[in-house]
Amino acid sequence: MGITMSTLVDDTGAASTPIHALRATDWPSFREGLSPVARRFAENVHFEPKPGRHLLLPGEGGTLEGAVFIEDPKKSEAERAFGRGGLASVLPRGTYRFQGEMGDPALVAFAWLTDIYRFEAYRSKEEQPHARLVLPKSVNAARVQRLADAIAFGRDLINTPANDLAPDGLEAAARGLASKYGASFEATVGEALLDANLPMIHAVGRASATPPRLIDFSWGEASAPKVTLVGKGVTFDTGGLNIKPDAAMLLMKKDMGGAATALAAARMVMGENLPVRLRVLVPAVENAISGSSFRPGDVLRSRKGLSVEIGNTDAEGRLILADALALADAESPELMVDFATLTGAARVALGPDLPAFYATDDDFAAQVLALGTRINDPVWRLPFWAPYDEMLASRIADVSHISNTPFAGSVTAALFLKRFVEKARMYAHFDLFAWTPTARPGRPLGGEAQVARLIFETIEERFRKAK
Ligand code: BES
Ligand code: MN
Ligand code: ZN
Repeated sequence: MGITMSTLVDDTGAASTPIHALRATDWPSFREGLSPVARRFAENVHFEPKPGRHLLLPGEGGTLEGAVFIEDPKKSEAERAFGRGGLASVLPRGTYRFQGEMGDPALVAFAWLTDIYRFEAYRSKEEQPHARLVLPKSVNAARVQRLADAIAFGRDLINTPANDLAPDGLEAAARGLASKYGASFEATVGEALLDANLPMIHAVGRASATPPRLIDFSWGEASAPKVTLVGKGVTFDTGGLNIKPDAAMLLMKKDMGGAATALAAARMVMGENLPVRLRVLVPAVENAISGSSFRPGDVLRSRKGLSVEIGNTDAEGRLILADALALADAESPELMVDFATLTGAARVALGPDLPAFYATDDDFAAQVLALGTRINDPVWRLPFWAPYDEMLASRIADVSHISNTPFAGSVTAALFLKRFVEKARMYAHFDLFAWTPTARPGRPLGGEAQVARLIFETIEERFRKAK
């Protein structure tokens, strides 16, 4: 669990093993320059210079002289930086440096750290030492480490099974984070949600043995621009009375992935001391099944006053988010962003690695898209397509929370959320998967705090410049 310090090493000129990052076409001439031992070794192991492959280079007497890594010229610069970082978990332990140009060293270092991450809370075996990376002095290694630690924090929350992370556990994690940075913290729990006029959070979460709650913390100068992050915190999603089939339920411990992203991003914002007034809201519930479950056909009253007809208890995330968004919207934040593992439809459209992104502000959207590519935390924009609003029509209530057609599942969910946001100057919504099903460089299999770094970098760029 977590990432050991000292994986990133300052360049003091001490001995380190060089990594030669090459293109496949450079390999023949590079090979000619190798020592006879290394050249013969490459032949004997039948090394083929294909993108993503690496080769250890032996020296006289069996020492490790260096490593060769073949890059993929078709990949973007940021993806190539991640490719380099991915060497962290395949190279033997030791201290390495990249020979020649490093690319974007901070990005390589970030990928290196996040590549090494493993979720080991439930294993008895001890952590193994791993490969270290020497960084040029120009890189702020402490910042890279803090960002990677924030990602590890988010991943740990997602990977922790629901029996050890119920709404109370999510509250404890948020409380710990808030106290680390001196934020003011509040939680509204159980029946108190009704008194606080958060009825949908209560309705969705009341069937669980662990009471539902709204987690709410604020940090920073009250006069600074208000940025509010809202994360879906469903610690387990059975689907409720509209129960999910077994395969669909198996991974639903990750249904608090939006909350994990919001908390990881908050950790970055506070850790880098950005000049914003940050507020984080996490409605935390377990969508459970019991005699007190909410039902298909129920009509819920929402905080905003709109009555909401329930078509399917498995569309629970948008209900708890709606009350949290309405609460946050009342103070007219400059920017309000929510993160949620909201729909299977977003996954059908874009797959697990590319979150869907919605924004009311085109300039903000352009900034997010450009940064996503630049730092390899990519998203794809989908529209708040107003003409589909009528798919949310209800015959007996002000609105239905699901579409009356099988189409545009992610868009209609986004449109439902948008009904609860009126005063925020900019509003954005991310429909996430929060999980890496197949490991890639910098992205081990398991929970992923998708877009945490993206929203942090966006906030930093937007509000640091404005000052
Ligand atoms: N948490 C799920 C969505 C989900 C499923 C995200 C799988 C990522 C992977 C959400 O609560 C849900 O069940 N949504 C339903 C909505 C439907 C009933 C309108 C869905 O997408 O099927
Ligand atoms: Mn659901
Ligand atoms: Zn859900």
